[in-house]
Amino acid sequence: MDSMVVNHSSGPDHRTPCVIVGAGGHGRVVLDILLSARRYRPVGFLDSNPALHGRRMDGLPILGDLSALSGLAAQGITSAVVAIGDNGTRRGFADEIEAAGFTLINAIHPSANLAHNVSLGRNIVIAAGALVCAHCQIGDSVILNTGSIVDHETMVGTAAHICPGARIAGRVTIEAGAFVGIGATVLQCLRIGYDAVVGGGAVVTRDVEPMTTVVGVPARPIRTAMDPDELTAFMLPRSLQHR
Ligand SMILES: CC(C)(COP(=O)(O)OP(=O)(O)OC[C@H]1O[C@@H](n2cnc3c(N)ncnc32)[C@H](O)[C@@H]1OP(=O)(O)O)[C@@H](O)C(=O)NCCC(=O)NCCS
Repeated sequence: MDSMVVNHSSGPDHRTPCVIVGAGGHGRVVLDILLSARRYRPVGFLDSNPALHGRRMDGLPILGDLSALSGLAAQGITSAVVAIGDNGTRRGFADEIEAAGFTLINAIHPSANLAHNVSLGRNIVIAAGALVCAHCQIGDSVILNTGSIVDHETMVGTAAHICPGARIAGRVTIEAGAFVGIGATVLQCLRIGYDAVVGGGAVVTRDVEPMTTVVGVPARPIRTAMDPDELTAFMLPRSLQHR
């Protein structure tokens, strides 16, 4: 249940207090989204950079690193959102924060437009002007950035990032950790493999293999996944390799 905080200027404040993890540029965007949406009341930022601790950003204090979570919980602040651009770091922090007993909230800008039957995980950021069409599934820790379009029945996997202005057609699968760069286009029914990178402005016309970087129109790989031996080593426990 939302806690009630007294706001002397305008009566009771029913917004749930929360903390933003990550005091960088994306943190600023997430703060703006939360203030616009008015469902949560950000109390401050956490950041692992000690040089930032004790400073303020956009009017809020930078309270410390993740070790500050227990003190916040003691004050009744148990909601958080991770505002870190790097996909792997965002996912790792989300796991740590949940393990500390916090609820991971979604930051959805009021100007984003979501179909009624979109399914959402947690720790999701949907920025201003994003469009998410019918029957999409948006996984935990996903960023759908400013003005991005995700069309019908598309699945966006855990901790993927769809950058500003990117357009994902219908029935696409974006696997976990994938990054679709600014202004890129992904045609219908394709699969973008896990941890793949689609360069800014690319037009993807074929599936992209996991851990592969593609750029251009049409998109072509400039960096591919590890060679098959390396991939085996990465995927399998050492005891099962080279059998
Ligand atoms: C794709 C990307 C990740 C590659 O970065 P990188 O690994 O540092 O690659 P490099 O800059 O070394 O470029 C390698 C080659 O690819 C080309 N290239 C890089 N990005 C490109 C792009 N988006 N479109 C076309 N060509 C591109 C470079 O010109 C270079 O070509 P060359 O070898 O002929 O000189 C990066 O360029 C990119 O597009 N990032 C997206 C940024 C973004 O969306 N930011 C928004 C954040 S919210």
